[in-house]
Amino acid sequence: MTQAYRKKREAFIAAVPKAELHLHIEGSLEPQMMFALANRNGVQLPYDSVEAISAAYQFANLQEFLDLYYLGMQVLIEEQDFYDLTIAYLDRVHRDNVRHAEIFFDPQGHTERGIPFGRVISGILRALDDGQQRFGISSKLIMCFLRHLSEESAFATLAEAEPWLERIAGVGLDSSEVGHPPEKFARVFAKCRDRGLRLVAHAGEEGPPDYVWQALDTLRIDRIDHGNRALEDKALIKRIVDDGYTLTLCPLSNLKLCVINDIAKSPVKTMLDQGVKATVNSDDPSYFGGYINDNYHAVANALDLTIEEIATLAVNSFEGSFLDADEVAERRAEIDQLVKQSAGY
Ligand code: ADE
Ligand code: ZN
Repeated sequence: MTQAYRKKREAFIAAVPKAELHLHIEGSLEPQMMFALANRNGVQLPYDSVEAISAAYQFANLQEFLDLYYLGMQVLIEEQDFYDLTIAYLDRVHRDNVRHAEIFFDPQGHTERGIPFGRVISGILRALDDGQQRFGISSKLIMCFLRHLSEESAFATLAEAEPWLERIAGVGLDSSEVGHPPEKFARVFAKCRDRGLRLVAHAGEEGPPDYVWQALDTLRIDRIDHGNRALEDKALIKRIVDDGYTLTLCPLSNLKLCVINDIAKSPVKTMLDQGVKATVNSDDPSYFGGYINDNYHAVANALDLTIEEIATLAVNSFEGSFLDADEVAERRAEIDQLVKQSAGY
């Protein structure tokens, strides 16, 4: 791959319209904002500077990250804090040409410490509405259940969400994966399906391929978050390809959480080669050292991806989204046009 091609690919990544489908809004809390909100709200953090917060971000596994993630979100208290967090993310990814974002939030991470559900969601929604106006970014909100908590707590969260269901596109499942299989949430996911919500779940990030099977067959999800370990099971990959499931891969997250030990081991290219609808996302950008385009650049360089492969990832991000077919078709046409321009037609 020549230097000239690499430069062209870099420009293509910057310019291509993309959707982000795997982003925890609490994971976009930058150390600067964490420090400022701690001061604003009188919350005591075990760090005495922004630099000390950043320096703490070294993780050997998912749980080590989650411990700091739940600690960090304790600075989020007021409706305005949730607004500030969300608008800052949209402002940032607008510069990465994100046109659509499907954003996770973890209500139990807030209600468990006494913050009312309505305060959390109204701050986020107000920012999503402003983000559409200011940056032209469309969005959908996905409410995640914390899998280390009980089924009962998930049902209680769904009950709290009832007045807001018009504004919630779907539900997800996140937090500590191993020991908390998808089947633990079979009944609450069935209820969410009945309520017309779309369903996604983290599966196969650290957990075994069996958890991905459960997410598909027991929870009957629409899209798989991570899914890396599906590659260990040929029959599972065949199922994913045959049924056209989208996987929301998060390369820098995988590196930072030691799911892989080298960015060149990211499954992005292997999955594309096997016909999986892979997408590239940032997961928790403030903790993992990069927003969506940083993730695209990292895999493009490490895996020698072609401009056509980058375009496929971007197309997959819209096709795997919960947007209407017309909008997906529009974005697809825009991406096709950019590929032609870049090839010099
Ligand atoms: N919550 C935030 N980021 C997560 C991840 N990568 N896996 C599971 N739970 C999470
Ligand atoms: Zn995640």
